[in-house]
Amino acid sequence: MKIYQYLLAPALLVVISSAAFASSPRSQIVDFYRQQAGEDFSAERGKQLFSTRHDGGKPETPSCTTCHTSSPKNTGKTRVGKPIAPMAVSRNADRYTDLKKVEKWFRRNCRSVLGRECSPREKGDFLTFMINQ
Ligand code: HEC
Repeated sequence: MKIYQYLLAPALLVVISSAAFASSPRSQIVDFYRQQAGEDFSAERGKQLFSTRHDGGKPETPSCTTCHTSSPKNTGKTRVGKPIAPMAVSRNADRYTDLKKVEKWFRRNCRSVLGRECSPREKGDFLTFMINQ
């Protein structure tokens, strides 16, 4: 073997394996929140956030389920009756793939429902729940 072959083989391996394990946009978003939260997420806590009736927000939107329905697999409805595609990733592969969109709607919906923004941990919990639905 010539010297360049010794150098090339490991380099190729790195390229191949990083292509195989390259993280999806969705897992990059979860990682982004994990770095901010500094802890692991819980699908169970995400489910609670999604289905609990909260105080502190607008009276007409006490829960995420007000618009997204009690099952993430269902088509939801806005306050004016426009359909909202299911939140479950198994039903909607486009979900949570664009950080700007994810941030925009967390900001808006957490304010409406909780009367405050969601924490990075809450966002990560919510996504972890939805990714497994
Ligand atoms: C007033 C109705 C309403 C309520 C209540 C609501 N949402 Fe939503 N949500 C929407 C709409 C409308 C969209 C944007 C349309 C779409 O993505 O299909 C959306 C989108 C989102 C998205 C972006 C999804 C993506 O594909 O990136 C997230 C995240 C989200 N909502 C989280 C929540 C959470 C968390 C709660 C409860 C704290 C909640 N929503 C409550 C109406 C609502």
